[in-house]
Amino acid sequence: MGAIGLVLLLFVQSGGALEIYGPSAQRARRGSDALIPCSFTVDKPPVDPKYFAVFWYFKGYEILSYYNNVVKTQDPRFSLNTMNSLNGNASLSISRVMMSDEGVYTCSIIYSPERKEKEVTLHVQAAPEINIPERVMVTNRQSILRAAITGFYPVDINVKWFRDGEILNNYTVSTPQRNQDGTYNVTSEVTIMPTEEDKHRTFSCRVQHESLFGPLHEDFQLEFAEGPTSEDSAHRPVILGIVPPLIVLILTACVLIYTYRVRKSKRESKFLK
Ligand SMILES: *[C@@H]1O[C@H](CO)[C@@H](O)[C@H](O)[C@H]1NC(C)=O
Ligand SMILES: *[C@@H]1O[C@H](CO)[C@@H](O)[C@H](O)[C@H]1NC(C)=O
Ligand SMILES: *[C@@H]1O[C@H](CO)[C@@H](O)[C@H](O)[C@H]1NC(C)=O
Repeated sequence: MGAIGLVLLLFVQSGGALEIYGPSAQRARRGSDALIPCSFTVDKPPVDPKYFAVFWYFKGYEILSYYNNVVKTQDPRFSLNTMNSLNGNASLSISRVMMSDEGVYTCSIIYSPERKEKEVTLHVQAAPEINIPERVMVTNRQSILRAAITGFYPVDINVKWFRDGEILNNYTVSTPQRNQDGTYNVTSEVTIMPTEEDKHRTFSCRVQHESLFGPLHEDFQLEFAEGPTSEDSAHRPVILGIVPPLIVLILTACVLIYTYRVRKSKRESKFLK
């Protein structure tokens, strides 16, 4: 139809009394399919397609249009159900939502000569993952349990640690690190002194985030390694590692000094002749 057609459409009389409504914010999880709601009513439904047009904008740019029974879109992930649209539901569907889809959408409905628009903010959420790579501890040695909590959005997150359901207080949460896709990572560390009894206890890292329906938790048991029995044995591997190269070094130095001296004295004796 083009711009001229649209202008004409604006001046042609239709049923009238267009009203637009719907929520002003919507949430969607990254990777899921989202619906940006936009509903409208007219005096005498259904609408006459001849006088009807829908435009969707994202951050001010047109991303989808529907008029003359044709839907045009900038991205195949955006779609509009044309049947529903003629019946008062011009909601925009977005498949496989990405972090970059977050922002303000504008739904603009034209039912000539009327035009109404509504803004809807899409909040994209990404659920965290918990990874606790190291669970091997030594009894009676102060140790740190470390959890990597990754890929979440928005940034606010709550981390807690438990031992057999009892809260552990001695923990830290790092400042969030931002990933390229806009999600965040944090690291949480809890200091523990593993005892014999801990061999049978369940440890848990629990994360609360607005993308989750309930807390996410990683439950696990500590694995115990045989600890060294004394300070000496702790240092022995270090000594064993350092001493042989040291001997080689000293021997090399002796040989070098010796050959240098021999050569020097040979040269000197030549001059003396
Ligand atoms: C509006 O249409 C979409 C499909 O485009 C559908 O998923 C949604 O449930 C409809 N909403 C209402 C309120 O009927
Ligand atoms: C808490 O952790 C710190 C080091 O992070 C440690 O010095 C302290 O002894 C710990 N306290 C308890 C009660 O475990
Ligand atoms: C966040 O964690 C993921 C998964 O472990 C990792 O690939 C990424 O590099 C981390 N990002 C930052 C900013 O540390």
